[in-house]
Amino acid sequence: MRNHVTMLVLTLLTALVGAAFADGETSPGVAPLIKMNDGHYIPSFGLGTWLGVDRTNGTLIQVKDDSVQRAVEIAIDAGYRHIDTASVYNTEEQVGTAIRNKIAENLVQREDLFVTSKLWNDRHKREDVLPALQETLTKLGLEYLDLYLIHFPISQYNNGTYYEADFLDTWKGMQDVRGRGLAKSIGVSNFNLTQMKRLLAMSHVKPAALQIEVNLNLQQPELIAYCKANDIAIVGYTPFGSLFHNKAKKDAPPPRTDEQALLRIADKYHKTIAQVALKYIMELGVIPIPKSVTKKRIEQNIDVFDFNLTQEERDVMKKYNNGYRVISVDMWRDSPDYPFEKPTAQE
Ligand SMILES: NC(=O)c1ccc[n+]([C@@H]2O[C@H](COP(=O)([O-])OP(=O)(O)OC[C@H]3O[C@@H](n4cnc5c(N)ncnc54)[C@H](OP(=O)(O)O)[C@@H]3O)[C@@H](O)[C@H]2O)c1
Repeated sequence: MRNHVTMLVLTLLTALVGAAFADGETSPGVAPLIKMNDGHYIPSFGLGTWLGVDRTNGTLIQVKDDSVQRAVEIAIDAGYRHIDTASVYNTEEQVGTAIRNKIAENLVQREDLFVTSKLWNDRHKREDVLPALQETLTKLGLEYLDLYLIHFPISQYNNGTYYEADFLDTWKGMQDVRGRGLAKSIGVSNFNLTQMKRLLAMSHVKPAALQIEVNLNLQQPELIAYCKANDIAIVGYTPFGSLFHNKAKKDAPPPRTDEQALLRIADKYHKTIAQVALKYIMELGVIPIPKSVTKKRIEQNIDVFDFNLTQEERDVMKKYNNGYRVISVDMWRDSPDYPFEKPTAQE
């Protein structure tokens, strides 16, 4: 009798698990999806995988272990379905390994995931876009990207020489790879308002997304309004800006994580200031892609779908907008395509 009951329970469990992950079904993530102007969907929250800059000496942090692979695996376990990488980050191999591991575990299928990568500045000629994307796909071990972005509107070889490549031609190369099915959606990153307007005026294919820096100090109201008006999804990078003492440059304006006004809001919702900052960005209509290689933070960062800020709280946070950029790419200020504000003569 006991054996019969055990068998019955096992059969029921198998049926249930089988029903939950039947062939062709998808495994939804934590973040709701947003429909883009080309009909594809983008998860409204993602994981960044750039290791960033070491603030003690200003150099790029090198990839030396498998921490990005582990971070992506932890993130997928935690319900992330959107991963952001780029050829220049040197993390595509690790992102791909993590994704293929999670698919092999049957936790997700490829269609459940949204993978973004970016075309670097040295591959802006139209004919260079396809081989660049093929290299990216080989590194990732994937057949297609969900989103491929022009990383910066600046054409420069890795030896520092600028070269002639109008971003409108690069954009044609992006359309070529989309036409081949190698990228489901295409977009741009770090384009300013003038550059966006030119792209929209001169091309019949709109970018599906614009990726720009968005955080409390850099709230980008004009670009966001323009993208909303033109149905272009906005992905926000460096969402924490200068919140963390150990990451902020000395000249960076407040707030940090000891800001009393933010602590009061965070306490009210039993959240951290980091979570409140992410929520604010989402309420601006932006898809944040915070990076972390720390399990607790990866899990904490996406745990922001169970509260909403009040208008009064949003007003408090709006006041930190002062145009301060973390990613100002000063070394490209002499490029005619430099997208950000240039300092005035007195500065
Ligand atoms: N398109 C572009 O030009 C561009 C430029 C920059 C970035 N991005 C993309 O955007 C992603 C995010 O931007 P980002 O990496 O510059 O900055 P970020 O996500 O704002 O900050 C990352 C830093 O914050 C720390 N952190 C994360 N969550 C935390 C938490 N809950 N509490 C305390 N510290 C926390 C991380 O530390 P640990 O990792 O040690 O936990 C890391 O040092 C990048 O990884 C990249 O994918 C794109």
